[in-house]
Amino acid sequence: MKLNIIPVKWADEGVQMLDQRLLPTEEKWLLLKTYNDVAKGIKDMVVRGAPAIGVSAAYGIALGAKNFVGTAVADLEDEIDYICDVIAATRPTAVNLFWAIDRMKRTFQKAKAEGKSVSEIKQILVDDAKAIHDEDIESQRLIAKFGGELIDDNSTVLTHCNAGALATGGVWGTALGVIRGAVDQGKHITVIADETRPYLQGARLTAWELMEDDIPVTLITDNMSGHIMKKGGVHAVVVGSDRIAANGDVANKIGTYMVAVLAKRHGIPFYVAAPLSTVDLNCPTGDDIPIEERDRAEVTHVKDNQLAPEGVGVSNYAFDVTPNDLVTAIITEKGVARAPYLESLKAQFED
Ligand code: MRU
Repeated sequence: MKLNIIPVKWADEGVQMLDQRLLPTEEKWLLLKTYNDVAKGIKDMVVRGAPAIGVSAAYGIALGAKNFVGTAVADLEDEIDYICDVIAATRPTAVNLFWAIDRMKRTFQKAKAEGKSVSEIKQILVDDAKAIHDEDIESQRLIAKFGGELIDDNSTVLTHCNAGALATGGVWGTALGVIRGAVDQGKHITVIADETRPYLQGARLTAWELMEDDIPVTLITDNMSGHIMKKGGVHAVVVGSDRIAANGDVANKIGTYMVAVLAKRHGIPFYVAAPLSTVDLNCPTGDDIPIEERDRAEVTHVKDNQLAPEGVGVSNYAFDVTPNDLVTAIITEKGVARAPYLESLKAQFED
C-alpha cells in the first residue's frame, strides 16, 4: 500500500483540489483562489465525501478570511458569517460541512474574545483549518485500526460508493480505511465495489484508489450484489456515512439501504465507518436528516451521453437512510459502537 492519496491541500496561494470529476482517466489538480471557488468546488463535486467536504469547508473559510481587506475585527466577523452562509448552502446532507463551519466560527469567537487583531485571527483560522485536516487523517487511521480488527483474514468485503482517502482528509478513508487497516494487519482482503449509479463513485473512484494501493478489487453493477451474497461471495459489508443520527440511523449514498437489507437477509455483518464529526446528536432519527436531490441529468446521462428519452420523469435522491437495526456496528476513531446506539454513540462523545 502506498497510503498517499490526499484529495485537498492548503497552499499559500489558495486551496488545491484533485478534480474527482475527471478520475480515473485524468489526474488534474485545481488551485482555488477564493472562498467562492471552494464553495463551487464542493457543490460541483470537484471534492466530495463527507469528511473531505468538511476539511474543504474549513479551508474555504480560512481562505476567505485571508483574502479579507480591512483592519476592523467586526467587519471580518461579518465577512466570515457571509462566507459560512455561502459554504453552508453547497450540499445539505453531509453534516461534516456544518460541523467544520461551527468549529471555525467558534475559533473566530475565541480569538476575538482574546482581543486578537485581524492579521492574527487570519493566521489562527488557517492554523485551525490545517488542524481539522490533520485530526481527520488521524481519525481515519484509528478507524482503520479498530475496523480492521473486525475483518477476518481471507475475507471478501463489499463496499458502496467511495468512502476512501478521496472522500476524507486522505491516506486511509473510512470504509476503505477499515479495508486498508485489515490489509495493514497482514490480512488478505478482496474488495467488491458497487459501481454506485448514478454518479459512479464506486466505478470511478473506489476502483481507482484501491488499485493505486494494490488491493484486489472487483467491480460490479449495483444490481449484482444480491446474487453474489446468495452465493456466499461476501463476508462483510463496510460503508461510510454522510450523517449518523443520534439513534444510529445512517444516511449514506443512495443504494446503501438496499445493500443493508440484502446483508441482513444473508446474515452478513453490515459495518458503518465514520468519524465522530459525521455523528449528529442534534438529529434524533434518520427522518430528520435532509436528503439532497441532484440534477436529473445525472440519471438521464452518463457524462455527455444521453441514455433516457428526452423529457422522461426522473428522481435523483443522492442519499438514503439505513435504519439502525440493520447496522451491525459503527466504527469511529473512539472504537466500535453497537446497539443501542443512543447510548453507545453518546458515550463516545463523552469519552
Ligand atoms: O455524493 P458524495 O460522493 O459526496 O457521497 C459520498 C458518500 O456517500 C460517502 O459514502 C460518504 O460521504 C462517506 S465518505 C468517507
